[in-house]
Amino acid sequence: MLKIALAKGRLLDHTIELFKGAGFDISAVKREKRKLKFVFEELGLEAMIVKPMDVTTYVEYGVADVGIAGKDVIVENRADVYEPLDLGFGYCRMVVAQPKDLELPPFGVGLKVATKYPRIAERFYGKRGIPVEIIHLYGSVELAPLVGLAHQIVDLVETGTTLRENGLVEVETIFEVTARLIVNRSSMRVKYQEINRFMDRIEAALS
Ligand code: PRP
Repeated sequence: MLKIALAKGRLLDHTIELFKGAGFDISAVKREKRKLKFVFEELGLEAMIVKPMDVTTYVEYGVADVGIAGKDVIVENRADVYEPLDLGFGYCRMVVAQPKDLELPPFGVGLKVATKYPRIAERFYGKRGIPVEIIHLYGSVELAPLVGLAHQIVDLVETGTTLRENGLVEVETIFEVTARLIVNRSSMRVKYQEINRFMDRIEAALS
């Protein structure tokens, strides 16, 4: 059995579609909405449905051999995993954004940044030598500058709608994000053939 951690939410539909193309029908994971573990005996797969931010944890600990995670999650969690395949879907960008008419505080005077990605934000500002206070939020990050909780945000932009509807503008792209196939380091050795066969089928379905 190959154990797979899949992110619930935005990536799940694309994942199901991709797996279908590779000959793995796992659509049951959408039908039983509250069920978290699925065994597909005939496909040789066991699927775990987890929060996007947790996919790397399941794979790093080896309870899942492989996983599908956004590049944002891999970078934020500094996951120690193999990342052999860029799956192409789930494209978005990690950006710095702020209100259109924001006057930044003078350099070194308490720039506040709200984000779901504190390590990415810390590294971004740290590299530039900009002192910041990072405010860790779990969602609706775009609200923070509107109510005076932060000057800027570091967050994902997909269509740009959330920024636009909240009067925010992009300042800079930090990196581009897509979904990646990740693999546990010891599973790669122990289940080498099984994982390679699986990856070949996924890769063929991509093209
Ligand atoms: C994500 C992201 C942005 C939004 C970007 O949030 O954090 O807020 O989507 O998408 P857009 O550019 O297409 O508008 P999500 O919807 O996952 O909700 P959250 O803010 O509660 O995390």
